[in-house]
Amino acid sequence: MPNADVIIVGSGIAALITAYYLHEDKNVMIFTKSKKEQSNSWLAQGGVAAVVSKEDDWHSHYEDTVVAGCHHNDQRAVEILVQEGPKQIQELINKGFRFDTDERGHLQLGKEGAHQFRRILHAGGDATGRKLVSFLLKQLVDKVTVVEEEMVLELLIKNGRCVGIKTKKKSGEAACYYASATVIATGGCGSIYAFSSNASTVTGDGIALAYRAGAEIVDMEFIQFHPTMLYINGKAVGLISEAVRGEGAILVTEDGRKVMESIHPQKDLAPRDVVARTIHDEVLQGNNVYLDISMIANFSHRFPTISQLCRSYGIDIESGKLPVVPGAHFLMGGIKTDVNGRTSVAGLYAVGEAACTGVHGANRLASNSLLEGIVFGKRLAEILRNGVQENHFVETCKYTENHFMKKLTKTLPSKQQIQTRMMQYVGIVRNESGLECAKQWFEQFSIPDLLSVDLNELTIEEITIINMIIIGWMITTSALKRTESRGGHYRTDYPSMDKNWKGTRIVRTKEELFV
Ligand code: SIN
Repeated sequence: MPNADVIIVGSGIAALITAYYLHEDKNVMIFTKSKKEQSNSWLAQGGVAAVVSKEDDWHSHYEDTVVAGCHHNDQRAVEILVQEGPKQIQELINKGFRFDTDERGHLQLGKEGAHQFRRILHAGGDATGRKLVSFLLKQLVDKVTVVEEEMVLELLIKNGRCVGIKTKKKSGEAACYYASATVIATGGCGSIYAFSSNASTVTGDGIALAYRAGAEIVDMEFIQFHPTMLYINGKAVGLISEAVRGEGAILVTEDGRKVMESIHPQKDLAPRDVVARTIHDEVLQGNNVYLDISMIANFSHRFPTISQLCRSYGIDIESGKLPVVPGAHFLMGGIKTDVNGRTSVAGLYAVGEAACTGVHGANRLASNSLLEGIVFGKRLAEILRNGVQENHFVETCKYTENHFMKKLTKTLPSKQQIQTRMMQYVGIVRNESGLECAKQWFEQFSIPDLLSVDLNELTIEEITIINMIIIGWMITTSALKRTESRGGHYRTDYPSMDKNWKGTRIVRTKEELFV
């Protein structure tokens, strides 16, 4: 019977940092349903926001984070993020990680939307996530077990405590693994939308697993759309980092009109929700929107990943105009945790985008997500290092308290059908009738039945679709409940922030379906 002290589900920055700071003391196993390099962290371009220059200070990073987050943030979580961030960055540098430096060896600092100062550290130009993930994977070789292409079907719960996971391999074979602590670090759910910057595998599986196991889920209505995805033949095909606008690029229409000119004092570097909505409005009016990069010298040198992406679609960088459209990028909500990664289920932890400490409020500040993984991953590792007993828990699957006994009776929709509806009705701009329409569509598949279905009988594709339905339905119904607009949740029928909603968080548990 395979065993670990700590099981980590997911292989992005939050997962790897947790493993990195744990592996000397604990037996750690990492599981991913795809390959270990397939994660949003791997795709992250912009960088890591941290106060490392003398002109800057943590109060200012704090302020930018809560202003972008529309004051929906958990204050303690933000303080931890901005105060511990620089120390963790220094620790990574001490361990040998190289952020980009200038010719004098000083850290190069980029600027991104809604930041008052240049404070974005980057690596490989615009390959920060890939460099960080590769660095950590290298440190972990032969020190932790990484199981690839094995999807977690369910969390094993015994006497109210999470004691491990049940998985399914590509071959269809099932397996159980037991651990004293199980960590969900599976990222968000961007790929349940038709336009997304996320890896195609990021469809909310970890959050659906936790919901199914009885954990509290929170703030699901807050979805951040990144303003600039490369837009080719009606499809969003990859991210164009906000760092590009940080270097001076501006959003323009076909005839050269500056799209953000009269919209916000920070213009092209306004908070993402503002920029994404403005582009969305232009597109609705029939205008194509472009990122004018003509003023950026040595573009291909500073942004090699983006240049390669453009070239692969036949877009000429020299023309200075990249066609763009917004795409789903980041989930501010997720599995409710405290600032140490504890969920409402004993033995179950969550970290990174899958978790919701409340640090990002209603709208994440640019380049705070890799930082979140680094800071909160390390905190979680410390808690687990000190608190988790060696695992002597050897069980067999038959002892699990989970009884998913029902047969699937409904025909499932395709991924594309879910993605199209999410984009149309639960996307950048929402209203009651669209949300009701999406809710009814999801509910035809009977959410309580999907939560009780025997997953052992199903394929990985079918389980993924069930998870997408559960997550899509949760976003839709939370968005219906929040009768205001705030950050990543914008409703035309309630277009303003409502002070009565300030500080109110919509918490979901599966009990809501079984009362
Ligand atoms: C970007 O490079 O624009 C994305 C970085 C982030 O989402 O923080």
